[in-house]
Amino acid sequence: MSVAVVVGLQWGDEGKGKVVDILSRHADAVVRFQGGANAGHTVVVGGEKYVLHLIPSGVLNGRSVCIIGSGVVIDPKELVEEIRFLQEKGFLKDDSRLKIDLRAHLVFPYHKEIDRLREEKRSEKIGTTLRGIGPAYEDKVGRCGIRFADILDKDILKSRLSQVLPEKNEYITKVLGGRPVDFYRILDEYTAYGEMLSRYAIDTNTLIDGMIRDERHVLFEGAQGSGLDIDFGTYPFVTSSSTISAAATGRIWGSNIEVLGVTKAYTTRVGHGPLPTEEKGRFGDEIRAKGGEFGATTGRARRCGWLDLVMLKYYSKINGVTSLAITKLDVLSGINPIKVCVGYRLGGRELDYLPATSNEAFEVEPVYREMEGWDKIEGVRDVSYLPIEAKRYLDMISSYLDLPIALVSTGYDRSDVIVLKNIFNLK
Ligand code: IMP
Repeated sequence: MSVAVVVGLQWGDEGKGKVVDILSRHADAVVRFQGGANAGHTVVVGGEKYVLHLIPSGVLNGRSVCIIGSGVVIDPKELVEEIRFLQEKGFLKDDSRLKIDLRAHLVFPYHKEIDRLREEKRSEKIGTTLRGIGPAYEDKVGRCGIRFADILDKDILKSRLSQVLPEKNEYITKVLGGRPVDFYRILDEYTAYGEMLSRYAIDTNTLIDGMIRDERHVLFEGAQGSGLDIDFGTYPFVTSSSTISAAATGRIWGSNIEVLGVTKAYTTRVGHGPLPTEEKGRFGDEIRAKGGEFGATTGRARRCGWLDLVMLKYYSKINGVTSLAITKLDVLSGINPIKVCVGYRLGGRELDYLPATSNEAFEVEPVYREMEGWDKIEGVRDVSYLPIEAKRYLDMISSYLDLPIALVSTGYDRSDVIVLKNIFNLK
């Protein structure tokens, strides 16, 4: 198998960064295919924490080509800073390791301004990351976006901006009551970004296609999670991109694809929207403290709850998941009993699926099964050293979802992991 896709099965922050970091050591290319700097992928290397927003987590392995694909919305300011930071830390010294797709759309200051002003005005807030993601994707679909290729030529950028900016400024000032964005400031700033980033510009789809045909290992790194998907998530409390595996695999033919669905051993969500298994009391506080559950991009406290197998089953099917990665199992150590959601109740009915509307999803009551907890498993790297209770917990997840478990993460460091399936010759 030469293609693997890593997707989140919850509301983001499942620990995909660490999973990608582990798999990427055996990958020839790692591709971000959607989202933007709203993502925050955390990887701990030798005790040092790295948070990546746009560059694939594979950059930390010093080997694979890192690709920012055509479905990503790039904030070039963030990207330039991320490149600088990585270079200072000794990564990404070789320019040829980073490729940015010419078709990728860009995030501009007016997108961030619109995101902020709209969020301020909303009575029912989404709790966006304020990174301009929604407005940038709106422009892409509305055919008034500006793409990476456009900032590589000042005349083209000038012409695109003069078509787009007057309307944006009208909207910002007259509808949202904000301040207009200066044309020449953006023109100069983005022309400079174009100059800095031009060395990375290519048509990445041709590169990816060639690598897959040569049976090289290509790893697609999903951002956010399926619960935030624009079509299948808890709308309108979602992000503005397609976060599921189809967004990566839609263009891959004839490949035997591994779809690795990542879930924490419990559930978290940052921002607003339904979270049926949320625990606001002691359990939530304990998990937040032990698991360091604060947003990697915004620093906001994450809402915490028990594992929800109903939503995991739904999203495993939508993504065509072939195996699971379970992260942060160690964080549940010392909690007894552990609850797991195996169904929902809504108005006297029992449901085994996630309701389509957020109104209903807010109302569902979880049906729990209780399981015995365990004491300590931090840093366990061999499944035979896991306490029987932790093994039972994993077996129960695997049998409910009817999927094998490929990886179990048992601590912060990249080496704290149990590998159970041989993806990309990992074992
Ligand atoms: P946006 O993507 O900034 O528009 O935010 C929309 C929703 O998605 C908000 O609830 C955010 O908190 C959430 N969100 C966006 N990116 C991430 C992420 O990488 N992890 C977790 N939640 C995210």
